[in-house]
Amino acid sequence: MCGIVGYIGDKQAAPILIDGLEKLKYRGYDSAGVCTNDGEKFIVEKEKGKIEVLQQMTGKGKKIAGTVGIGHTRWATHGKPSKENAHPHISQSESFAVVHNGIIENYMELKSELIRKGVKFVSATDTEVVAQLLEYHYNGDVLDTITKVMPMLKGSYALGIMYREMPDEIIAVRKGSPLIIGIGEDENYLASDVPAILDKTKNIYRLDNGEIAVIKRDGIVVYDLSGNVVEKTVETITWSVDAAKKDGYEHFMLKEIMEQPKAVHDTIIERIKDGRVVLDEIRLTPEQIRNFDKINIVACGSAYHVGVVAKYIFEKILRKPVEVDVASEFKYRDPIVDEKTLTIVISQSGETADTKEAMKEAQRKGSYAIAIVNVVGSAIAVEADDVIYTLAGPEIAVATTKAYSAQLAVIYLMAIYFGDILGKICKEDYKNYVSELLALPEKITDILDRIEDIKNTASKLFARKDVFFIGRNIDHALSLEGSLKLKEISYIHSEAYAAGELKHGTISLIEKGTLVIALATYEDLHEKICSNIEEVQSRGAYVLGIGCENRQHLSHSADSTIFIPKTCDMMLPSLAVVPMQILAYYIARFKGCEIDTPRNLAKSVTVE
Ligand code: G6P
Repeated sequence: MCGIVGYIGDKQAAPILIDGLEKLKYRGYDSAGVCTNDGEKFIVEKEKGKIEVLQQMTGKGKKIAGTVGIGHTRWATHGKPSKENAHPHISQSESFAVVHNGIIENYMELKSELIRKGVKFVSATDTEVVAQLLEYHYNGDVLDTITKVMPMLKGSYALGIMYREMPDEIIAVRKGSPLIIGIGEDENYLASDVPAILDKTKNIYRLDNGEIAVIKRDGIVVYDLSGNVVEKTVETITWSVDAAKKDGYEHFMLKEIMEQPKAVHDTIIERIKDGRVVLDEIRLTPEQIRNFDKINIVACGSAYHVGVVAKYIFEKILRKPVEVDVASEFKYRDPIVDEKTLTIVISQSGETADTKEAMKEAQRKGSYAIAIVNVVGSAIAVEADDVIYTLAGPEIAVATTKAYSAQLAVIYLMAIYFGDILGKICKEDYKNYVSELLALPEKITDILDRIEDIKNTASKLFARKDVFFIGRNIDHALSLEGSLKLKEISYIHSEAYAAGELKHGTISLIEKGTLVIALATYEDLHEKICSNIEEVQSRGAYVLGIGCENRQHLSHSADSTIFIPKTCDMMLPSLAVVPMQILAYYIARFKGCEIDTPRNLAKSVTVE
């Protein structure tokens, strides 16, 4: 969703801002804008639609004067995508300019109050309220005014603020939504996300909740809410600019699919020492692990699908009950969670509002929350009791691939680690799990080497209108992800179904030519899934089976097949997901879809 960028230095600001916005567009947006201060006044250019529109209007920013400015990509929440609703927002007398990520929950109340006092609004956004409030309450001291206005705002937000009379500073405020400050030489940057400024500087400060930064050309001072100066530590970003570039691939999604062996390798390698799983980074003690009577998993989208896989794994290995919830439902069903419940939160971005709120709800009820997160320092990572980072590197395509795989790898690590502490894994199984885990990157590479065959399969299937993904047990959990991948980027209607459940209603939708993708990797239920394949075939379905290479006779049941290498049951999803990602990618490509930024979707969804 929305992205923030800011610049202050000696160079022309607008080209830098627009360049930064370009790098944030992967987050999903529907309008973009910049505002500079030329020393006397604000210059604002914004428009709905692609950044290319803004680039054309402004000559890639060259037509806009000023060496200080803020920019924004907006994903509409309050008010439709339009020029008026695009950020930056300017207060009535043009004294404050504001860009904002997140949500001001009480904006209606604040807006009505300001309207009663005579303030005129031009947009339908919650953000404009912030600009107007700052102007209305301005007391001669910008920092003091911001500190007084902040408590009036309910919700979570990251703000970039400029005051017209002070063209030598940008003020950044964080409550909930992430913000970083890029440290340059005689110039500094502001951004909601590292890729926006990574080619300018690798040294950053991450603002913590409740911090306010005054960013000048030659210095940055960070304050807490009481006005005390906070000593920040400089963090040096270790990933290269190339990590956030396409590297010769046509799409980020394809690049990220190909990066999966590395993502899995990097995530596990430092956590396996002398054949033992070591999770040094968590404070959770073996005693606490033994005392939990239930595990509770909350997440959204693909991360939720990792949770569903985890349920099968944890229940089988740990013999503890596991509940998995879509985060947006969890908070509002008054879940039965207490200090004997371990909550596992899964999120690539670490910013997803529903997931964050669900985690807080569990914590409020006394549950210990471990987060599996990809983005370092993100809100969920900071607010969780423990965090295990996936080391997938930056993921740009909206449809997740390598982060999903890295999250699965952490689930396996946790299953082995917890299983050992609980005494549920014998020596032999332990050894086998660890060696299978270490072998995963190579087995994923084996599948990637056959990408052309899968592309060829996709070329025969891309015109289908309806697709069903079926599977049993862990294959069912995985079918959810296969189906989501396909529909989100190819816009083909698809559904995932527990194979045994299909005949209780949905089988009526199967007709001649309906594509059914049958996941048949789970050995114990192989015969049963083969019966389900026959059920749909006899009603006209075309079945593509995905199974393990030691089960070649799947070729007799299915109309076509993709085989994956054999591994232990719990790790099958890491292999079977890869052909489904490749299929979805090529089907979308054959259909001519915009793969990396599918319509209506955002990479990180920062509103509930
Ligand atoms: C969005 C993305 C999905 C992602 C979900 C959860 O909907 O489009 O790909 O799975 O958010 O995101 P998170 O960052 O919490 O994993």
